Amino acid sequence: MKRLHTHLVRLAAASACVLLASCEAPPMTSQQIGYRGVAMEQNYHPATYKATQAKNVPPPVIPSMGSSGPLAVNTYKNIKVLTDLTVPEMTRVMLAMTAWVAPADKSCGYCHAADMASDEIYQKVVARRMLQMVRNINSNWGGHVANNGVTCYTCHRGQQVPARVWYINPAEKELPLLGDRALQNSPAKSVGLTSLPYDPFPSFLLSGHDLKVAATTALPAGDRKSIKQAEWTYGLMMNISAGLGVNCTYCHNSRSFRDWDQSTPARARAWHAIRMVRQLNNDYLAPLASVFPPERLGPTGDTAKVNCGTCHQGVFKPMYGQGGGADYPELREKPKAVTAASSTAGRSGAGAP
Ligand code: HEC
Ligand code: HEC
Ligand code: HEC
Ligand code: HEC
Repeated sequence: MKRLHTHLVRLAAASACVLLASCEAPPMTSQQIGYRGVAMEQNYHPATYKATQAKNVPPPVIPSMGSSGPLAVNTYKNIKVLTDLTVPEMTRVMLAMTAWVAPADKSCGYCHAADMASDEIYQKVVARRMLQMVRNINSNWGGHVANNGVTCYTCHRGQQVPARVWYINPAEKELPLLGDRALQNSPAKSVGLTSLPYDPFPSFLLSGHDLKVAATTALPAGDRKSIKQAEWTYGLMMNISAGLGVNCTYCHNSRSFRDWDQSTPARARAWHAIRMVRQLNNDYLAPLASVFPPERLGPTGDTAKVNCGTCHQGVFKPMYGQGGGADYPELREKPKAVTAASSTAGRSGAGAP
């Protein structure tokens, strides 16, 4: 009995050490977000914060070579998207894309065959669509990315496939006696290791299912909001929080998650983000499935898709607000009035998007 007791004490001491080792040693820094007394605070550990900062330094800006010169579309054979850019502007984009996405040993050859005009390498076809996507974000989604905008680096960070992407999960097999787990009760990273439904993305970031769960009328007025639906919304909210490295009170006052009047301005930004992400997944990424080779596709044959973390990478503003598309005016659609005189040929000729 005594031996068993000592054994248990040792075991307890050992597990306590393991548990404590995975905690962050104090002191934490906390920043007040809401009014005094409402406990809307963000907590940061200085050491973790420092490490995250070091990982989120944007690469040096490629110097501009000026904007004068002939239009690329009149100089080269196969320009379909960058039809409003001059040759020096387009060259700058090529250099930048190489630094942001291509593996170091491949350089231009990552996308280009010996004949630069050829579309035989699939990465070039994908990159052309990505250019349209980035220009769309920077030109039309100011409600989310403000004047800052994004570049390829915001997601790719020098890698071919960005970190933090998602695929559609295959349907779960029913377990004997336990039945259908409804895609939950198995602690998953996608939802902060909770037992919430671990695959909230297809419903909310591909389809536009309603995220609202709080009843707005008293029972029994026929309110259809259910606990099941609440679990799915919470699953996505856990992922949003992890993607941005913040907690719920960055956007909500927890006394009423629903009420916009008590929410922070960041919640309005996030509202636009959800709509933007749906568009990126539906209009740009999902349709590329036929272009990618099988090894790039998910278990159900879909492309990798984006969520908040794909750009944010655990930080409230990607790269702490630096290194955005603002450094690269080429990644924004030029206002038509300015380019009309110089680029009429390009616009009519090359099947602009
Ligand atoms: C990530 C993929 C990618 C990389 C890397 C890349 N390019 Fe491109 N390149 C493209 C795409 C896409 C187009 C077509 C743009 C369009 O349709 O508007 C293009 C078009 C071109 C063209 C025009 C060819 C023609 O006749 O139509 C030239 C020249 C070119 N790139 C040069 C370069 C050089 C030089 C490098 C290396 C410094 C490079 N590119 C790196 C994707 C890439
Ligand atoms: C919003 C995030 C995002 C941005 C911004 C972005 N990409 Fe991507 N890109 C992705 C995702 C996600 C994939 C992976 C798709 C897959 O593998 O199914 C991808 C894949 C690619 C691939 C194919 C990689 C391979 O080797 O299979 C290329 C090439 C590429 N992107 C180029 C670009 C270029 C060039 C830009 C900037 C003009 C850009 N991307 C901007 C999300 C992004
Ligand atoms: C970055 C901002 C942000 C963070 C962080 C965030 N949320 Fe949300 N939340 C939103 C937005 C935006 C909506 C509204 C979405 C919509 O209607 O499309 C929302 C909606 C909700 C709703 C539904 C309210 C209703 O109308 O019924 C609940 C519940 C909720 N969030 C809980 C949480 C919880 C719990 C957390 C922390 C785990 C969290 N949120 C973190 C932005 C955020
Ligand atoms: C295509 C890249 C991209 C994606 C995807 C993205 N964001 Fe952002 N987000 C940005 C950029 C860039 C900024 C910074 C804009 C600025 O400088 O004001 C930003 C800023 C924000 C802010 C404002 C932060 C602050 O403190 O002012 C919030 C909140 C936010 N994003 C939430 C989200 C949520 C939630 C999602 C997913 C539903 C998401 N974002 C997806 C690029 C992205």
